[in-house]
Amino acid sequence: MVAERAARVDYAGEGLSEDACPPAPLEIVRAWVASAIERQSAERDVPEPTALSVATVDADGVPDVRTVLMRDLDTRGPAFYTNTGSAKGQQVAANPAMAAALTWPSMYRAVRFRGTAELLPPEDVLAYFRSRPWGSRVGAHASAQSRPVPDRETVETAYREFAERYPDTGSADDVPVPEDWGGYRLVADRVELWAGRRSRLHDRIVWERVGPGGLDDPAAWRRLRLAP
Ligand SMILES: Cc1cc2nc3c(=O)[nH]c(=O)nc-3n(C[C@H](O)[C@H](O)[C@H](O)COP(=O)(O)O)c2cc1C
Repeated sequence: MVAERAARVDYAGEGLSEDACPPAPLEIVRAWVASAIERQSAERDVPEPTALSVATVDADGVPDVRTVLMRDLDTRGPAFYTNTGSAKGQQVAANPAMAAALTWPSMYRAVRFRGTAELLPPEDVLAYFRSRPWGSRVGAHASAQSRPVPDRETVETAYREFAERYPDTGSADDVPVPEDWGGYRLVADRVELWAGRRSRLHDRIVWERVGPGGLDDPAAWRRLRLAP
């Protein structure tokens, strides 16, 4: 099997002690994301520091997973933008359960979130859409994400048509937001930080929700260590 050819790596990360963990997880999650972003330009061994694997389940309870870019992380959880008619959008409409993971193998670190998806408000969607390059804004119109297309040419023709309809004027509002374009926030009920260490004796610290409150509210969380 091809996977057997991958070299076995003994993870030599810094680990994670209880002392380094605040009573609520937001501060340390943000610090880990900031370190990964720093490494993108310093060591250059984290090419996409905000790549977020997002898991959903469909109406039959069958799981699905794909990678998106985390565009925000606030006191409720991570957020990303996508097409709401996509497979993930339809799955979330049927069942809002969502899990997500940020994984930085070169840093021997990962963060896991579990919770429920909420649609982002239209004002956030508009502000983010307008911040994207013109080509990406046009591309959003040309792609009914996750739905079958006969061939690549169909997508490229649609792109050319929308590019003509919404020419680049240099202004952020030259392309309207497509109706089926939006975003989701995973409102977290559980957050785990994983730090890889030697002999597979990794550190795992979990924050479990025990009451209402944000990821920065100590009263909302119970912290525990899990066996690796
Ligand atoms: C590194 C990376 C970043 C991506 N970022 C996004 C994103 O921010 N939004 C998005 O809709 N798809 C993104 N994609 C594509 C998704 O992985 C996926 O193909 C798409 O969202 C359709 O997923 P679905 O059919 O499960 O809905 C990204 C893929 C990769 C590999």
